[in-house]
Amino acid sequence: MSLCFAVGRLAAMFETRVKLEDENGPIERELLLRGIQLKYGYDFSHYAQNSMRRRIDAVIQEMNLKNPVELLNLILQSRRVFDEVLPKLTIGVSEMFRDPPFFRAIREHVIPMLRTFPRVTVWCAGCSTGEEVFSLAVVLREEGLLDRSTIFATDINPRALRAAREGIYSASQMKENTRNYLAAGGRSVFNDYFTADYGLVKMDPSLIKNVVFSDHNLATDSVFTECQLILCRNVLIYFDPELQDRALGLFLGSLHPRGFLGLGSQESIRVSKHAADFETIDERWKLFQRARESWRTHA
Ligand SMILES: C[S@@+](CC[C@H](N)C(=O)[O-])C[C@H]1O[C@@H](n2cnc3c(N)ncnc32)[C@H](O)[C@@H]1O
Repeated sequence: MSLCFAVGRLAAMFETRVKLEDENGPIERELLLRGIQLKYGYDFSHYAQNSMRRRIDAVIQEMNLKNPVELLNLILQSRRVFDEVLPKLTIGVSEMFRDPPFFRAIREHVIPMLRTFPRVTVWCAGCSTGEEVFSLAVVLREEGLLDRSTIFATDINPRALRAAREGIYSASQMKENTRNYLAAGGRSVFNDYFTADYGLVKMDPSLIKNVVFSDHNLATDSVFTECQLILCRNVLIYFDPELQDRALGLFLGSLHPRGFLGLGSQESIRVSKHAADFETIDERWKLFQRARESWRTHA
């Protein structure tokens, strides 16, 4: 066999293998997600496919594995491995007063309505490690509402919820957080809300005295309370349209007749089947209010 011919055969074999792996990729990823659902109950079948694929591939690379099935085997054998992989599949990036103008919009449009209630209930869905919860608690305290408020802070990631309860963050983030706090309309000195030690800060625990941290999955769980404000920011972006509709349906089922919904700056309800159930209050910073007509349809 000539060298040229051998190289040609090898190249063809390699191409076939790559093609086969490519073709099997979606099946193997689906097996992985189905296995996770059967073993641990987390349903990722309606997450946006492309970004889920990228995240699975990144985990496989990081763990030096060959394919999703190998990852599935490890996950099935060990809850610890699953707990480590879960945050990588769900993306928990957060920051205090993320998109500061959003919090200005809350002060301007939502706070006046909340003042009219003897008790205020807020649901922070997909709260991750708690930065958003502390930001909201600071706003409610400065507006004199925190003591009569309950915040339900939920997520599917138990580790993130534990970190949120602890309220300990890197001190290196505090410069940026302070800038955000001021840009968000902060009225005090942000340093007063935490104590700093050894490169870490501990947020003032009294801010989360009335916060209930809890496991809640927007893909599988149901409505659990009525609230006047729901924040679900930078979560729907990871869902496909069907799951986005499910989550928005849960929010409608939870919201007070004229309650408010805040989403992330890259998220939209325009194409959702629930679009008509919300009025837009701030298009840029994604603040919506439940539409009057929606009470009848979703009472
Ligand atoms: C990018 S973080 C957003 C954190 C915070 N809301 C913010 O905007 O800074 C997305 C969070 O959504 C959570 N999440 C993903 N899927 C979820 C689901 N089905 N139900 C509830 N939370 C979910 C993740 O665990 C993660 O903590």
